[in-house]
Amino acid sequence: MKIVIGNDHAAYEMKFVIKKYLEDKGYEVINVGCDTADRVDYPDYAEKVGKAVISGEADLGIAICGTGVGMSIAANKIKGIRAVVCSEPYSAKLSRMHNNANVLCFGARVVGEELAKMIVDEWLAAEFLGERHAERVNKITALENK
Ligand code: RB5
Repeated sequence: MKIVIGNDHAAYEMKFVIKKYLEDKGYEVINVGCDTADRVDYPDYAEKVGKAVISGEADLGIAICGTGVGMSIAANKIKGIRAVVCSEPYSAKLSRMHNNANVLCFGARVVGEELAKMIVDEWLAAEFLGERHAERVNKITALENK
């Protein structure tokens, strides 16, 4: 599975931690984030992550900023992206199972490294349940076209 990962300056250290963690587990990771503390704008990186998912270059995306909030707001402006900001593993897991989330966001200033790894693990291990949940996700997709 290919994972695209993007981040702003608030999260470049966390990005490297999560990137290595995923690579050690055998995932292919595409880094589209910034790699230094130089100030950048998170929407630019949310766009890179979202577009990589929509184009099929990556299967799923992870977008990290200070809170995860800006990344999720921006990524959700891209048609077909269902981005979630999660600070704990339960919501992360359910966001895949019920909402078919395709971008996971979290805050490097909110969660520690070990909690972030647990959030990522639960999110990647979970699968969309379809059925009644698919009908609801289809309604989200319909909202994009109104
Ligand atoms: C950058 O200071 C900060 O605003 C950004 O990382 C993020 O938290 C925005 O939602």
